[in-house]
Amino acid sequence: MRVLKMYKTAIGKKAVVAITGVVLFLFLIAHMGGNLKVFGGERDIDTYAEHLRTLGEPIFGWADVLWIMRAVLLVCVLAHIVTVFLLVKQNKRARPQKYRHHHIQASTIASRLMQASGVVILVFVVLHILQFTTGNVQPAPVLFREQDGHLMAEVYVNLHAAFSLWWVAGLYVFAMACICVHLYHGAWSFLQTLGFDNQDRNRSFRIWAWLLSVGLFFGFSAVPFCFWTGILPPPSDVPSQTHPAQSPETH
Ligand code: HEM
Repeated sequence: MRVLKMYKTAIGKKAVVAITGVVLFLFLIAHMGGNLKVFGGERDIDTYAEHLRTLGEPIFGWADVLWIMRAVLLVCVLAHIVTVFLLVKQNKRARPQKYRHHHIQASTIASRLMQASGVVILVFVVLHILQFTTGNVQPAPVLFREQDGHLMAEVYVNLHAAFSLWWVAGLYVFAMACICVHLYHGAWSFLQTLGFDNQDRNRSFRIWAWLLSVGLFFGFSAVPFCFWTGILPPPSDVPSQTHPAQSPETH
């Protein structure tokens, strides 16, 4: 009950936003690291995707650990969004009437930027999963191969096909820019929530927040950019057999 009481306060909500934000940030670092395996060639990235599904074997079955990670991520995403929503409502209620018509402050611009970039990221993630994981949204063909009775995405082939289209590559880079903005402000307010900010340290915190978000932007954007420009070569062997769009892990 103490936890619930804490959650009702603004600082409790800020802590939930901060903690879930850190989990999502760690996921992004791991995902970016995995994506960069495309530079090691087709085999590297496809083997990596396969490892993700065989994690924990033989104790766990095919993709079980992946499903646990997905569940943790989903809980964090939902808690992050719902808590931000409640926090905005709580702040509005607490704001005195006389501030309503004041000119827009820097903090208001930052929070609007966070909300707008947050919505773009949410739409991106939904479309992104429907594209590369389930194959329901196919601006370019998404192929799966059958392996030991399971459907596996042809990751390199799919990335190459998608990012050969300039507008898909462009939309991805745009979404990564929104993530960069969101992360920069998120990292900054995280440090403030923890009470770490003070005059002496603020400059170095800002530099760290900037380096982390810009690093993620370039790390993620390198993949669409290098496929689109042809720096990353086409796949050597495009499989002839395609499977209809369906969730691969259910097979
Ligand atoms: C250029 C940037 C990105 C590329 C090229 C990319 C690529 C991919 C690919 C190929 C998959 C399917 C992997 C597989 O089936 O093994 C995937 C899954 C996924 N990606 Fe990304 N991704 C990018 C950015 C992001 C970002 C920024 C987020 C989150 C904000 C994200 C969230 C996810 C999620 C949640 C999944 C589903 C994981 C699963 O359940 O298997 N991705 N991504």
